[in-house]
Amino acid sequence: MKPQLIAIDGPVAVGKSSVGSLLAKRLGYIFFDTGMIYRAFTWKVLKSGISTEDEQRLCQLANTTKFDFISSKEGRLAFLVDGEDISAKLLSPEIEELVPLIAKVAGVRQAMVSEQRKLAQRGKVVMAGRDIGTVVLPWAELKIFLTASTEERARRRYEELLKRGQNSSLEAVLADLKKRDKMDIHRPISPLKPAEDAIIIDTENISLQQVVDKIYDLAVNL
Ligand code: C5P
Repeated sequence: MKPQLIAIDGPVAVGKSSVGSLLAKRLGYIFFDTGMIYRAFTWKVLKSGISTEDEQRLCQLANTTKFDFISSKEGRLAFLVDGEDISAKLLSPEIEELVPLIAKVAGVRQAMVSEQRKLAQRGKVVMAGRDIGTVVLPWAELKIFLTASTEERARRRYEELLKRGQNSSLEAVLADLKKRDKMDIHRPISPLKPAEDAIIIDTENISLQQVVDKIYDLAVNL
C-alpha cells in the first residue's frame, strides 16, 4: 500500500515544490505547497491594510477568510481567496518579505493548519512546508526533510528569479534567504525542524530527478 500522505519539509529554496510536484505527478497525487497558503493570506492582509503587528486583527481575519484549492488539469492547485483565484500573485517580492512575519502568529497558524488538514483528508497528497511532519500531519506515513547549504539554495533561488524575469543579485538573494531562514528556525511556534522520524535527504550534490526517484522508491517500498 502506497502512503496516503507524504510530508516534505525543508528550508527556503531547497527544492520542496519542484520535488513535491514531480513526485505527486508520478504517484498521481495532489501536490500542496503550504507556503502558498501563508502567501495567499499575506495577500489578503496587504489588501485589508491590517498591520503585521496587530495579532488580534490578523487572527480574526484568518478565521473569516475563505480559502479554496482547486486542482487544475495539469495537476496544479489553484489558490482561491474569498472566491478569487490569486495563484499568479503569490510570488511577488512584497508578499515574500511579509510572509514570515505573518506566519509566526499562533492564531494565524492555527487557521492555516486547519485548512491544510482539511485538504489532507482528500488523501493521496504530497504536502510541502516547514512543519508538515512535526505539526500539520505528524501521522503522515512518509516524512522527508530536504537539506542543502545556504549558498547552494541561494544559487537555485537566484536562477529561478532570473527565469521569472525578476532582477536581483546573488548577494541580495543570499542575504534575504539567511534572514528568512533565521525567522523560520527561531520562531517559538512550529519552527522549521525535521520530525524525529523524518528521512533526511541532502540535495546538495544530486539532481532533482535523483531526489524524486529516491522518495518515490521510499514511497512504493514502504
Ligand atoms: O515555502 P515558501 O517560501 O513559499 O513559504 C513562504 C513562507 O511561509 C516561509 O518563509 C514561512 O515563513 C512560511 N511557511 C510556514 N510554514 C509552512 C510553509 C511556509 O511558516 N508550512
